[in-house]
Amino acid sequence: MSRKIVVTYALPYANGPIHIGHLVGYLQTDIWVRFQKMCGNECLYFCADDTHGTPVMISARAAGISPEELIGQMYKEHKADFDGFYVEFDNYYSTHSPENKHFSELIFSRLNEAGSIVKRNVEQTYCENCKMSLPDRFVRGTCPRCKAEDQYGDSCEICSAAYRPTELINPYCATCRARPALKTSEHYFFKLVDFEKRLKDLIAGGHTQKSVANKLDEWFKIGLKDWDISRDGPYFGFKIPGEENKFFYVWLDAPIGYMASAKNYCDKNNLDFDKVWNSDEYELYHFIGKDIVYFHALFWPAMLIGAGFKTADKLFVHGFLTVNGEKMSKSRGTFIDAGTYIRYLDPKYLRYYYASKLTGGIEDIDLRTEDFVNKINSDLVGKLANLASRSGPMLTKKLAGQLGQLDKKGEQLINKLAAAKDRIIRGYEGLNYASVVRTIIALADDANRYVEQNQPWVTVKTDLERTRTTLTAVINAVRILTIYLKPILPKYAEKVEKFLNVDKLSFADVETVLANHRINEFERLVERIDKEQVNAMIEESKEGPRLAGTQTQSPEPVAAAHVEPLKPECTIEDFAKIDLRIARVVKAEAVEGADKLLRLDLDVGGLQRSVLAAIAEMYKPEELTGKIVVYLANLKPRKMRFGLSEGMILAADAGGKDVFMLSADSGAKPGQKVL
Ligand code: MSP
Ligand code: ZN
Repeated sequence: MSRKIVVTYALPYANGPIHIGHLVGYLQTDIWVRFQKMCGNECLYFCADDTHGTPVMISARAAGISPEELIGQMYKEHKADFDGFYVEFDNYYSTHSPENKHFSELIFSRLNEAGSIVKRNVEQTYCENCKMSLPDRFVRGTCPRCKAEDQYGDSCEICSAAYRPTELINPYCATCRARPALKTSEHYFFKLVDFEKRLKDLIAGGHTQKSVANKLDEWFKIGLKDWDISRDGPYFGFKIPGEENKFFYVWLDAPIGYMASAKNYCDKNNLDFDKVWNSDEYELYHFIGKDIVYFHALFWPAMLIGAGFKTADKLFVHGFLTVNGEKMSKSRGTFIDAGTYIRYLDPKYLRYYYASKLTGGIEDIDLRTEDFVNKINSDLVGKLANLASRSGPMLTKKLAGQLGQLDKKGEQLINKLAAAKDRIIRGYEGLNYASVVRTIIALADDANRYVEQNQPWVTVKTDLERTRTTLTAVINAVRILTIYLKPILPKYAEKVEKFLNVDKLSFADVETVLANHRINEFERLVERIDKEQVNAMIEESKEGPRLAGTQTQSPEPVAAAHVEPLKPECTIEDFAKIDLRIARVVKAEAVEGADKLLRLDLDVGGLQRSVLAAIAEMYKPEELTGKIVVYLANLKPRKMRFGLSEGMILAADAGGKDVFMLSADSGAKPGQKVL
């Protein structure tokens, strides 16, 4: 009996482009959905843009357009990126939609009636200048614990302390630098705590992977807290019914966007939404990345339970993408947008490569550029596509494209390939695509060995019928391997279907053999990767460094053209107050208890100074010793938890972990003034 399945993947924020990190999940899910469809199951893949929240509002302001215009543009871009990678949604919708408003209000009112919502006063930071309440990440200031400057409102990147934005010393608005005011406001809270038992039962029932369940256990131990689901206006989102200036927090309506997308699809296709979304007739699966587990394994199921909806059958969590062992980075050029990738490389490469790495676990997956190039060229092109290009053209040129029948040896080969079907299916079903790809490659090795043993390029000169028999086996091998690969490489499979002159291949076709059949002209399936193209793509993705003191926000507004707003004007007199000197790093050492700090002893032309610099992740101490740097000499010394810091050295910040030391010209002497 065929199954009916609804699948969702996390909704991308509408304030930034799709990048190759996002694609890990969209592709993992797309492959699973295509696999289900190929097994003859009904499978619906729903997604949408996640449009609400402060970052979208701020990006739109910075770009001088309305949030609606911004999300309209982003929607088109996102859709084009997904199309470019053959991510085939059954519906791609938006959280800024009437359906989503309807369900958000419905769920909220049901929770409210059930007594799961309470109102409570909270103290919040408000920027008079920007005329808005500031989310934690939009307030910055000095860490109350270690006194490091320029820290986010929720946690310190230097000493890892977690705190409320109201605890920051010298707080300022990340957008305009004004000092925020404190305001008391009444907020709505969802009583997550009331759902603890039901959530624990859900998780214990195998709702998600074991490793995720372990993480959830830790959170249960720490204790659940009520969840603030309202935000004061101005805010881009849905107004809370009965309120003048309060809105649903973006994370309340975001997962409801899954339902909205499903509802929109059902209405367009004359399906009964209640049956599709909320009955046993359809299985329901959510796919997400590991950073948003809290929302999907706690808040979301609690909301559904509280509002009388069913919860998903499973939550599948995947790990993060790293490139060459490190987080994606703008300065290294590994923060690659989907659109940039498409301009340089074939999307097949990435689909194939990710599939070869995905195991269904939550470990990060590493894209090694060298390994990427090798895998594509040696396996995909050299082993898989090669089978077709060795047999197809010879058949059409010398044998009128006409297949014959299998002999004993050919049958053996084809039987072996067909016998792997169950293993392949188990691999796909369990999200272990890496094992699927390994199996396929091992079978391709068998088929290539068969070609070597039968030498059709030799027999074609003397024995055409024998050659036809050999090539018939090879073509059948190509056909089976293509079926196995099809969820991963749909476009490749389409080309093979055309060339084999067959209907759309599905798993049911594995058992049949193509004999006495006429094939079409062979068309190349996939080209080798040129390493230079990869390098050029990385080069294009590199972003120049910004000036020190400016920091990236997370998530980053796009429309603001990647430039942080400037600080308020300063005069030449202001500037004249600072004293920049050349200094030599005499000694650099790690600081115990602060992973990000280095203590630098400086020689400033006879003056000995010591500074604490948050550059431990970018430089090893030994790389700094002897270096000539630019030093801000008359900065008021600051007593930090880790000691006294006398002034600071200048560096340029490219965002994330990347920083460039502003190095003085090598002719400069310690103590000299910098003009
Ligand atoms: N809008 C929220 C999700 C709301 S779902 C109701 C969000 N958006 S996101 O754009 O930041 O992320 C979308 C998905 O991409 C998430 O599943 C996230 O885990 C995933 N990834 C984002 N960066 C990633 C990597 N570098 N690597 C792998 N997946 C990544 O979160
Ligand atoms: Zn402001």
